[in-house]
Amino acid sequence: MSANIAEMESRRAAAKMGGGQRRIDAQHAKGKLTARERLEVLLDEDSFEEMDLYVEHDCVDFGMQDQRVPGDGVVTGSGTINGRLVYVFSQDFTVFGGSLSARHAQKICKVMDAAMKVGAPVIGLNDSGGARIQEGVASLGGYADVFQRNVTASGVVPQLSLIMGPCAGGAVYSPAMTDFIFMVKDSSYMFVTGPDVVKTVTNEVVTQEELGGAITHSSKTSVSDLALENDIEALLAARDFIDYLPASNRDEVPERPCADPWDRTEESLDTIIPPSANQPYDMQEVIRKTLDEGEFFEIQPLHAGNILCGFGRVEGRTVGVVANQPMVLAGVLDIDSSKKAARFVRFCDAFNIPILTFVDVPGFLPGTDQEHNGIIKHGAKLLFAYAEATVPKITVITRKAYGGAYDVMSSKHLRGDLNYAWPTAEIAVMGAKGAVEIIFRGLDADGIAAKTKEYEDRFANPFVAASRGYIDEVIYPHSTRRRIALGLRKLRNKQLENPWKKHDNIPL
Ligand code: COA
Repeated sequence: MSANIAEMESRRAAAKMGGGQRRIDAQHAKGKLTARERLEVLLDEDSFEEMDLYVEHDCVDFGMQDQRVPGDGVVTGSGTINGRLVYVFSQDFTVFGGSLSARHAQKICKVMDAAMKVGAPVIGLNDSGGARIQEGVASLGGYADVFQRNVTASGVVPQLSLIMGPCAGGAVYSPAMTDFIFMVKDSSYMFVTGPDVVKTVTNEVVTQEELGGAITHSSKTSVSDLALENDIEALLAARDFIDYLPASNRDEVPERPCADPWDRTEESLDTIIPPSANQPYDMQEVIRKTLDEGEFFEIQPLHAGNILCGFGRVEGRTVGVVANQPMVLAGVLDIDSSKKAARFVRFCDAFNIPILTFVDVPGFLPGTDQEHNGIIKHGAKLLFAYAEATVPKITVITRKAYGGAYDVMSSKHLRGDLNYAWPTAEIAVMGAKGAVEIIFRGLDADGIAAKTKEYEDRFANPFVAASRGYIDEVIYPHSTRRRIALGLRKLRNKQLENPWKKHDNIPL
């Protein structure tokens, strides 16, 4: 072996030790994998090609000139997930706490630029003490360079962040601008200011986990889309997840072989709707029985459970699913559910993913809390998202579609391509009793009951809407999968464009 090759090998080996064995042991002791071990789990075996292994910081303050570690605290490059190209960066907590220097940021920017150029997703594994304190503003500039790319790449290539350690201060805003965030329970946290600052400023005592742990962000704030038990689970979830996504906005949805017959009927769906309108049933069942192999990758399962959002496949091709969930708050639309679904619909639309919508919605949630917190503005987000979406949109109304919420949930009027209803659908301004109490105020109980029956007979069905062409067909519930598969085939070459604009002005 030539001396040059030996030199290269020894440099590589040194770089791969990151911050040294002691710090690697400390990382393991916290139940965390190292930056490189994580990439091994995330990517196909031997597919990782590293870039910028020898990059070092150029800081000479606070003794930093004597502390240089090749790679400078982030491992970057590309690899494949089930054979499909992805770009990655993985922050190395063993090197200066994974803190972000100007050079560290430059490495991240380089993979983001490459991903945008070729059209491939970017996956960031975040584990960092934040801005490299010794570098000051150079480090802040580095963050802003990354932020700019997050925004430029938004809607161009999918961006996924895994939070696998600290992510605090300005560092939170890069993941915050990516499409999805997965967090690891107990070992990761995200906050703008940590518990110590909170205590000083507001006198509140709060733990890191309560303030910004995986459960807090996956249930309360919806900053995070999933909370996973440990590093391995999070990385394997990311592998599954990426499989659903197109590589870029210029790509079609991925397609994979599917053994589930496209015309499989599900007789059980003919009886899933309970006899009483107030009785819930599990919309998850409807979704799973419709999708290939019953597989549904739900996002934000712990937040706004009254709406379900996630990915699945029909005939091997990805679809985005949005569905009211009658099991939670009767499937009502409120602030949280509107925001959750709006962002999801916009992601699907940006990346050419057809949207399936299952509707059982009693309306918007009444109350001062909702009104004063801006249900008008937030509900409008979902309406806006559906209305601007040009991807194939197929809607199935299973039961209630009341009031403005009927319009919002991918109705024909918002350019729904195929709008189906089950025979159990009730499409009306509101529930029969409420309607009668308003129109016939002052009527006695018997009168109300009679008029309620009359209203139900008239409106508690899909046929009035179907007679106007707002519903394309009233279908057997058991044939839902077949209808959707046929619809998606038909819509594969759909072409619809919104008029030119710089960008829209969605209510924020
Ligand atoms: N800049 C430079 N070095 C940093 C750093 C930063 N922002 N954050 C951590 N480090 C270094 C530490 O000096 C330590 O170095 P060492 O291994 O040579 O001793 C190493 O990273 C590990 O940090 P440590 O504090 O021992 O780890 P921990 O798990 O106990 O705590 C943090 C992790 C992130 C809570 C803690 O390091 C911290 O508070 N960092 C500063 C956060 C911050 O204010 N960032 C700037 C604003 S965005």
